Amino acid sequence: MCGIVGVLSNHEVAPILVEALKRVEYRGYDSAGLATINAGHLDCRRSVGKLINLSDLLVHEPLQGKSGIGHTRWATHGEPTIKNAHPHRAGKVAVVHNGIIENYLDIREKLKRRGIECTTDTDTETIALLANHSISQGKTAVEAAFATLNELKGAFALAFLFDGEDDLIVAARKGSPLAIGYGDNEMYLGSDAIALAPLTDRLTYLEDNDKAVITRANVEIYDANGTLTNRPVKVISAGTGQPDKSGFKHYMEKEIAEQPSVVKGLLQQYLTTNGHFKDIPLDIGFREFDRLILVGCGTAFYACLVAKYWFERIARLPVEVDIASEFRYRVPPIGNKTLALFVSQSGETADTLEALRYCTGKAAQTLSIVNVTDSSIARESGLIFPIQAGLEIGVASTKAFTCQLTVLLILALKAAFDKEAINDAHLSDHIASLKDIPTLMRRALDHKDDVQAAALHISLARDVLFLGRGLMYPLAMEGALKLKEISYIHAEAYASGELKHGPIALIDNQIPIVMMAAPSDVFRKSLSNLQEVLARKGKVILVSDEEGIQAAGHEITMSVKMPKVSPLVAPILYALPAQLLAYYTAVAKGTDIDQPRNLAKSVTVE
Ligand code: AGP
Repeated sequence: MCGIVGVLSNHEVAPILVEALKRVEYRGYDSAGLATINAGHLDCRRSVGKLINLSDLLVHEPLQGKSGIGHTRWATHGEPTIKNAHPHRAGKVAVVHNGIIENYLDIREKLKRRGIECTTDTDTETIALLANHSISQGKTAVEAAFATLNELKGAFALAFLFDGEDDLIVAARKGSPLAIGYGDNEMYLGSDAIALAPLTDRLTYLEDNDKAVITRANVEIYDANGTLTNRPVKVISAGTGQPDKSGFKHYMEKEIAEQPSVVKGLLQQYLTTNGHFKDIPLDIGFREFDRLILVGCGTAFYACLVAKYWFERIARLPVEVDIASEFRYRVPPIGNKTLALFVSQSGETADTLEALRYCTGKAAQTLSIVNVTDSSIARESGLIFPIQAGLEIGVASTKAFTCQLTVLLILALKAAFDKEAINDAHLSDHIASLKDIPTLMRRALDHKDDVQAAALHISLARDVLFLGRGLMYPLAMEGALKLKEISYIHAEAYASGELKHGPIALIDNQIPIVMMAAPSDVFRKSLSNLQEVLARKGKVILVSDEEGIQAAGHEITMSVKMPKVSPLVAPILYALPAQLLAYYTAVAKGTDIDQPRNLAKSVTVE
């Protein structure tokens, strides 16, 4: 949700901190700030909005110092204003924080009783005030930080900097990721490996309730019991190059275009040339499971919904799907023959991480399908299935989604084969259909005119309805989400068959209706639903293949013609028009496509 960095260097740290923050700006960009120890004293610079604004400020008001901390914010408590921007400073203490302090109001009351008033709307300020109060009571910097940490409830990745201490950062982790990087008589701190990649590839990920006392020469890590402990130093190469758009206008456009190649790479990774499974990171067969749970958030959840159809239809395995933020609060029974599967691009989504923790120790096996393989969810899962989509910078998930779907279908086919629900011939047919996807994606991407025309139509709308049936229903949801999150146009998705049970009242000659209708055994039903809409003068944009568009007749307003594709793998292909519709609509509206307002790429708070 926020990105935090820290550096103890032998060089001026401000430019190093800014570069590290650039690499974690995808985690939030409501405000940014630095604190350094300049000639022994704390000094801060903060700015509202994107990191570029902080860089501008630093030109006019440079910040000296060879030790410092930095922050890029996604607002949880308090508007994105200078007052609420991190680092938060109280007297001799500056703090940067990723997470939510759930008992911050209690702490505020406690401080108030001591005559200490808060001046911001944030939870984080209370941390700095508590620590500074401890110092004023005679505690050392480390004692003050540790005493403060023991009073906090909730989730946090924290870094403290203290006036007069230019060779000290105290860090702590509970629920939000935090890594320590080792340099040559320098030390680094970052929310993830990406932040620190240009500085070091030797990292230690703190574990929950760890506290770390960091100097240039040494790191002391204390576990939940306050015992000095060792955490492994791993070599993690997160790609040192600053990602670039490779000539595309936006990262999202680039990542949409990368899908044929990343999906092709994925298929080559997990399928042999003659269509058998290989390198599947599941050393278990599916025979031992009688139930599958699929959990995710947002786009990852829609991938789970598609997978439900696949696992139940092909592998005959009962599947329960839920959004992570609801899942564990239902306190669902988890049997010891349940496979719990978690889908997360970042591997840091707090809702999904907590759902995983709920299942750990209860389910027969936990498996996470992730893009970031050194993430918290990956580290805490029994098994991981990397989607190998490459760095996804655009906040709107695109190539990760189609890679998630591809991996989920491979798993569903493996489950079906393990359970003898399909034979060799069926398996070969399904895998051949999968292998067609990269070529069909390229063809779909080569014919964008339809989508661009439809997007211009949609860009004038206030509300948009997405419809889909069967495997297309989750795709309708994904299309609605994409449109909302980057164009800010309200959109909602309905199962086509559900429209007549109320939502059809929304149909008039204004609201655009996008119907996702790939060929399938429910296509004819979808045509009936289409007629129900047309009979009410609905403005339908039909996304289907040539045959489907012909069958729909001439009353539809527009169509997006897709290549012919096997119904089984259609969701992977039809993700592209869903993405492109949103993309071109947002281009027409001039919104911030890669860093949409109010959003962050990784939501590390519940
Ligand atoms: C998708 O475009 C959104 N950015 C968002 O819904 C995202 O899919 C969700 O937050 C889950 O993220 P994760 O895959 O990193 O867990």
